[in-house]
Amino acid sequence: MSALSQRPANPVVGQEIPHEAAALHVTGDALYTDDLAVRTHGILHAHPVQAPHAHARITRLDTSPALAVPGVVRVLTVDDVPGVNDAGVKHDEPLFPSEVMFYGHAVCWVLGETLEAARLGSLAVEVDYDPLPSLVTVHEAIEAESFQGGQPHMERGDIEAGFEGAAHVFSGEFEFAGQEHFYLETHCSIALVDENGQIFIQSSTQHPTETQDIVAHVLGLASNAVTVQCLRMGGGFGGKEMQPHGYAAIAALGATLTGRPVRLRLTRTQDMTMSGKRHGFHAGWRVAFDDNGVLQALDATLTSDGGWSLDLSEPVLARALCHIDNTYWIPNIRVNGRIAKTHKTSQTAFRGFGGPQGMLVIEDILGRCAPLLGIDPIDLRRRNFYVEGQDTPYGQPVRHPERSGICWDQVLSTGEVLARRAEIAAYNASHEHSKRALAMTPVKFGISFNFTSFNQAGALVHVYKDGSVLITHGGTEMGQGLHTKMLQVAATSLGVPLSVVRLAPTRTDKVPNTSATAASSGADLNGGAVKNACEQIVERLRPLREDPANAGLDWAALVNKAYFSRIQLWAAGFYKTEGLHWDSSIMHGSPFKYFSYGVAASEVEVDGFTGAYRLRRVDIVHDVGDSLSPLVDIGQIEGAFVQGAGWLTLEDLRWDESDRPSRGRLATQAASTYKLPSFSEMPEVFNVALLERAHEDGAVYGSKAVGEPPLMLAFSVREALREAAAAFGPTGTSVDLASPATPEAVYWAVEEARGGAEPPHMTAMVEGAPGVVPDQPHADAAPLQPRSERATQSASVGT
Ligand code: MTE
Ligand code: MOS
Repeated sequence: MSALSQRPANPVVGQEIPHEAAALHVTGDALYTDDLAVRTHGILHAHPVQAPHAHARITRLDTSPALAVPGVVRVLTVDDVPGVNDAGVKHDEPLFPSEVMFYGHAVCWVLGETLEAARLGSLAVEVDYDPLPSLVTVHEAIEAESFQGGQPHMERGDIEAGFEGAAHVFSGEFEFAGQEHFYLETHCSIALVDENGQIFIQSSTQHPTETQDIVAHVLGLASNAVTVQCLRMGGGFGGKEMQPHGYAAIAALGATLTGRPVRLRLTRTQDMTMSGKRHGFHAGWRVAFDDNGVLQALDATLTSDGGWSLDLSEPVLARALCHIDNTYWIPNIRVNGRIAKTHKTSQTAFRGFGGPQGMLVIEDILGRCAPLLGIDPIDLRRRNFYVEGQDTPYGQPVRHPERSGICWDQVLSTGEVLARRAEIAAYNASHEHSKRALAMTPVKFGISFNFTSFNQAGALVHVYKDGSVLITHGGTEMGQGLHTKMLQVAATSLGVPLSVVRLAPTRTDKVPNTSATAASSGADLNGGAVKNACEQIVERLRPLREDPANAGLDWAALVNKAYFSRIQLWAAGFYKTEGLHWDSSIMHGSPFKYFSYGVAASEVEVDGFTGAYRLRRVDIVHDVGDSLSPLVDIGQIEGAFVQGAGWLTLEDLRWDESDRPSRGRLATQAASTYKLPSFSEMPEVFNVALLERAHEDGAVYGSKAVGEPPLMLAFSVREALREAAAAFGPTGTSVDLASPATPEAVYWAVEEARGGAEPPHMTAMVEGAPGVVPDQPHADAAPLQPRSERATQSASVGT
């Protein structure tokens, strides 16, 4: 057991304690960034002017009418920027654009004494636009060859040989939607400027250091003149990894120019129309199996819909490529990736960071091919699992592959899967208009940032003379329980009760040069740094502790004595993940410290008249190593699963794809039209178990990351819906299911299974040997079809 992973006797880690702010959350006392606005004297409010075009040149911008509106203080435009006019790190995101790149793009910002004054001011600003042609769908971008960023290529084995000898070859296409983050707290920043022109920003950001960097470059300041603090976020889910920076820069610019505090908080509709979402993807694929359903080869092209600028699209795509294998050994594989440039919001990180998109492709392939192979999907998936000694397509040995099988078997037995499947068969035999199905899917998810440099963290631990402890670390709290875990880690490594330790909000002047709290690695990285700082202090106290004269002194007395002995009682800790290497140019290396594993079984019931369905029962076994905080981890698994089910079954982002002037407008701008999971969509029975005896040698106190991997357990819901739809047809029916699998989409799948009319743009299954990987969507895919009719799935089958 490594020193990092080993636990002392009676550790505080592993205790089932509530989230550190649970009481504040539920009473409403927890402060979020915008709550500080009412406490800040003389604060100004910022409101955007959003462009009503998907793509247009700005030919005239007249802000003077806005200045005539009572309460308007100033209008911020490109002319005000003292530094770099860019909100990102790729220099393709002008903070104030001269060319509108998506419907709703903010062209300038109005500052007012009240939000209402700023809003009225924004209506008074006069802007003339010269509309330009726009690409709204990924199809249009592919046809126009509108791509951005690198085009990664990952290959292993002999792809042609893999197909040549194979008993079964299938090919097809799959296009699936992105997802709105819908964090409860929208983007928010408050900026203040002090007498020396130093900027202090309160921001709802997952990446305070990068917010600091961007604000500094927009203002033309050095980083030491800008401090960013994040109290906590009301959810980030990846949406606040890169996108808060521009809003913080607007607030900071306003504060600099007016000398007054500035608050910028987006309304829900502004947030939905301006900020990036999960990437939707198009996938073209070709797959080969042997006679036993064992995967022989996979050739795929993934095209993500990146929106108007790169943002995090490249690393998201890289993670998609690195997860297309999920838990399956694919000896011969070739995957190409590219990023479509479209006139939409700039798509960004979202829980799983491309991993879900890559994995959805292989799970969809297995779900569609199982009936054609005549193999039960449960068997088909299980027989393709990695075994010890095998490598991923990018060359990383798969450590602990047996954990997939252990989770699988545990779900089979505790989920009473076989008995319930017999019940389901009986139910289906006696119900013509309603069918049930139970599907199981596995998850393997790589933990660490692919970009090796990000795998570092810092922490600051102060022990005061009275023995009380204050910790700060580089991670941010977004509800995921990171602070709770860090308190537990500090208490464990100092050997003190939890009540002695307090945690202060994340600030760039406490811990500098931090990485985003992302990639689920917050606890691994910051936990390592907190532990390192605590151990330095413990080490300095050791001589005193071991001195027989001090026998029997409690912590506070020992610390007090240490102070009078002039022993340093605080420490800065540092941690970096060892053993990682990654060459992005050839998509090869060992980018992940370890893999997280999990398995879910979901049972659904589908109504044949409407496609409406219920999620009857879910059983999950998930590997979090030796949990740092079991209640937090179970909450993360439940939340991630439901969020994944929302993505795959309910949440239906629609943009106007017509040629009307509203082209490119997000049609689903509010909770009224964008359906989120709520209590009524919770599984009726929901059993979550943590895998036991799961110690992870490479991580802090034997734990594993939890934030993202369980989202992908929701594939089981989608596969169960597919199987229930198929049950309306004869045995062996393979159905194509659009994603999201809304009731409407399930209805079309049921129709397909029944042999009825297919939706107009679904291409029928074709017999015959497939040729190249289809990477062009069907030419007949007409714009502005309901999603289910646009479900561009097709498969041609050859044996
Ligand atoms: N849980 C809550 N409640 N709110 C969030 O915003 N974000 C998720 C996950 N769990 C999120 C969450 C995402 S996208 C990530 S990467 C991780 O938390 C980040 O935190 P961690 O690294 O501490 O797990
Ligand atoms: Mo999470 S998508 O890595 O912020």
